[in-house]
Amino acid sequence: MIRFFFHRKIEASIAAAVILSCASIFCCGSQQGRPDRDDTDTDVQASTVHSALGSEGIVVSEDSMATLVGVEVLREGGNAVDAAVAVAFALAVTFPEAGNIGGGGFLVMHDSARDMEGALDFREKAPLAAYPELYTILADSGNPDASREGVLSSGIPGSPAGLYTAWEEWGSLPWERIVNPSVELALDGFPVGEGLLKRLSDASKYAAKYRSFREGFYPNGVLPKVGDILIQEDLGGVLSIVAKDGVEPFYRGALAEKLVSEVRKAGGIWTLEDLENYRAEIRDPVRIAFPDRSGVELIAMPPPSSGALVIGQTLAYLEFQGALDRRAENARRAAALVESLRLAFADRNTKLGDPGSMPVPLTELLSHAYLIERSAMLPSSYPGDSRSVPSDLPGRESDNTTHICVIDRNGMTVSLTTTLNSLFGSKWIVPGTGILLNNQMDDFNAVPGKPNLYKLVGYEVNDVKPGARMLSSMAPTIVLKEGEVWFALGARGGPRILTSVLQVIINRCIDGMNLVDAVAAPRIHHQWYPDAVYFEKEVEAHELRKSLDSLGYHVEFRPMVGKVLAVERLPGGELIGVVDPRTCGLAMPVVAR
Ligand code: DON
Repeated sequence: MIRFFFHRKIEASIAAAVILSCASIFCCGSQQGRPDRDDTDTDVQASTVHSALGSEGIVVSEDSMATLVGVEVLREGGNAVDAAVAVAFALAVTFPEAGNIGGGGFLVMHDSARDMEGALDFREKAPLAAYPELYTILADSGNPDASREGVLSSGIPGSPAGLYTAWEEWGSLPWERIVNPSVELALDGFPVGEGLLKRLSDASKYAAKYRSFREGFYPNGVLPKVGDILIQEDLGGVLSIVAKDGVEPFYRGALAEKLVSEVRKAGGIWTLEDLENYRAEIRDPVRIAFPDRSGVELIAMPPPSSGALVIGQTLAYLEFQGALDRRAENARRAAALVESLRLAFADRNTKLGDPGSMPVPLTELLSHAYLIERSAMLPSSYPGDSRSVPSDLPGRESDNTTHICVIDRNGMTVSLTTTLNSLFGSKWIVPGTGILLNNQMDDFNAVPGKPNLYKLVGYEVNDVKPGARMLSSMAPTIVLKEGEVWFALGARGGPRILTSVLQVIINRCIDGMNLVDAVAAPRIHHQWYPDAVYFEKEVEAHELRKSLDSLGYHVEFRPMVGKVLAVERLPGGELIGVVDPRTCGLAMPVVAR
């Protein structure tokens, strides 16, 4: 049950967070007549970058209350993983559009003290009863949105297992200490801010459709007001169990039985076996040496994330075209970026899938020999054409996420992206549990022949297969210089995550922009299909757009390309955290009391 209270006394730390949120809200603006919008744009945005400096550790997230939870964990001696996990649980309460325990995500970490790094995959899995034709059959029988909303759109959640595994492997504080703040936020409640209100307003058509969603967030069926206190009793109950007993009950036992029975009552296909079988996977992170031999290396996420592939391949193609040289002319660099992305996204869409269900040739796809051979497909004159990039496969054509960055006082660094897929995921809360489920099944090639929510064209390699993980664009990344952490970043925005993370890396590493400017700078996007170059609205009158237009590219506008959160260790050891002006959030250092 979720209850709202009005004008309730609030804790001092929460009050501080609200004041900080309000500070961001004052500089937020909404956009009128947005072109080509999807869920990823439905956020309250700040008009300036928010950044903060400190030296004893720093936390960045899209929600101020969650950031404060992480800062407290660091202050009490927790490490970066403890803090990131605590922030992720807090976001499941205070940032329900994307923060979750009913979704999944990816994490990369680097621990300089122990000279180790890791990657964790807690992506959702298709239920065992799912099969490639499922969503086509549902579409043909009058349910075209089954992969995008409602109970059938949800994969088996990975977040509880992933967050627990991260803590078990790399955390240090007691588990209860990590989860308890989220229990308190759920049971004591927190004041609804402008951002949550805006997103609930954007999702209100679903409130009419899904009773559990309506009962969860729309008291008496209407939008709450700013300052109303949102109490989530059922979610708090589940989180208390998790705080006390770990995540085992989520996957086995009474809670698991409740989840499966509610899902099935609502017409879903989960079984107890699906939950019992779920494991978060520790994977080898992919090291990508920056092609300009500057000593910069990336720690990137392997499949089923497409982070390492798209970022690694694009950097190589840029180098082959001489476009990593900052002296190159801007329009030529942009055209080279589009052409590189065209090839990289074609490989992403046609060759990447779940490594647990099929061999994924990532090493080959990132090898020098392969990249040289494939670069023959780069056009000799601009623009290229997506139809000229063969897929080697039968031609079957076919946005909400949030990022956390933490660096602790010992330099341990975490970059974690988690998602429900689009705004409030499936828009279906498992009755009696407060758990909002994901709509990640749409990230598969759900209905062959029909592009997904992000207009990505899907192929057989990413078909719905029982027990498989769906391909993802989430790309938490850490950038090293001479083996030491330089900065870490991640984004939300579906496939635009990949282009955003990549462009911030180029801005910082090649163009020498500081992190604040690198995050704020206008970005472009291309993803093979649709064969268009997306520009942010702000650069509508920009020279670059005009030059790409005159080169013959088909140019379209989006309100924004991705939303990036980042942290950096500055040369003197100081830490800076940055929140993209395209979103709200809080970067906060650990400061002495
Ligand atoms: O994993 C993916 O690629 C998508 N589910 C991510 C969705 C997303 O970033 C929506 N963002 N705001």
